[in-house]
Amino acid sequence: MDTYLVGGAVRDRLLGLTVRERDWVVVGATTEEMLAAGYRQVGRDFPVFIHPESGDEYALARTERKSAPGYRGFVVHASPEVTLEEDLRRRDLTINAIAQAADGTLIDPFGGTEDLRLGRLHHVSPAFVEDPVRVLRCARFAAQFARQGFRVSHATQELMHQMVADGEVDALTPERVWAELARALVSAIPGRFFEVLQRCDALARVLPEIDTLLGPSPASHDGDEAPPRALRALARAVELSDRPEIRFAALVLGFGQADPVESLCDRLRTPNAFRDLGRLAARYHLAIRDATNLAPEPLLKLLEELDAFRRPGRVADLALAVQADDDSDLATPYPPAERLATAQATAAAVAASDLAATGLRGAAIGAELHARRIATLAALPRPDKP
Ligand code: CTP
Repeated sequence: MDTYLVGGAVRDRLLGLTVRERDWVVVGATTEEMLAAGYRQVGRDFPVFIHPESGDEYALARTERKSAPGYRGFVVHASPEVTLEEDLRRRDLTINAIAQAADGTLIDPFGGTEDLRLGRLHHVSPAFVEDPVRVLRCARFAAQFARQGFRVSHATQELMHQMVADGEVDALTPERVWAELARALVSAIPGRFFEVLQRCDALARVLPEIDTLLGPSPASHDGDEAPPRALRALARAVELSDRPEIRFAALVLGFGQADPVESLCDRLRTPNAFRDLGRLAARYHLAIRDATNLAPEPLLKLLEELDAFRRPGRVADLALAVQADDDSDLATPYPPAERLATAQATAAAVAASDLAATGLRGAAIGAELHARRIATLAALPRPDKP
């Protein structure tokens, strides 16, 4: 049997990136031989094994053929006769279809190394269309490798467009869409994910809410035309923070109200951190942006509505998302963020425990706490009133 390193590990090594996960393909072996060699079988639908020591995944070389709509219906054929080239042929993009032998030799029948050099995301074969997840993956790779100048090839773009027209992407589950979107959010240029999907009309099918938010698609947003507000905010959020929740909040803030963000997050089943920050950013972004002008009472009300006293990090996170959507200089502190941070610290310093000596009970404690917090906020210098 022969073993080759394949997929993302070979691609990322050739790009000079850190390799996180190693996938191997085994040619000329049977399941029985793998088990006898101490590998543990994990694949239900096709023979995939875990190496007893490294924990790496080893898959028997296989071919796949689509047997039903969507992305579940595949006839998988794994046997010792399946060649390495056949296994590479079933893969999505040429840059993901390079194998590396034990001695370091590259086996690259589909021009993957050339496409790595050219920065080209290009399908291996027309069988690309058999798996709609690949549309999402292609858009995510465009975002992930944007700094290296990667672009979707014209032919692949057309193929994806055809898949959308044929209704193939309608079979994608929200979980799968979120999985790729979440990876796009931590990528170099997350906006590319949406641009690629919009250009092949997939965005309106898989993320119709975001498609509406972005507005009609110009052929590309990297010409002279200004990008849509949401993508501009997203790009600025990338400068401000590595955290995907903040980038997501900057993107969805333009909805201007909590409801559409909540229904989007419910549909995609995003983690709560994204839902909470997103809905608050959409609902309160105008108030946050205006924080330097807010009088003590609305300022305290804003902090309370943001649950700032129980979640101290939240205000700073929201201020970053709002700053991303604003016009401020990213290199200097954002005045609304500073005003909110000072107000939060000042108001939080007046604690319920300070009121023990007053003899107040029940609701009266809350009212007194509120009044004292407003009084301390009133004593703060107002940035807009020298
Ligand atoms: N693959 C494919 N079609 C898919 C998913 C995966 O052809 N829908 C193939 C590709 O050759 C890919 C390999 O399986 O390189 C391994 O997939 P996976 O581990 O999911 O992704 P990677 O490409 O390794 O990269 P990343 O981890 O960045 O997603």
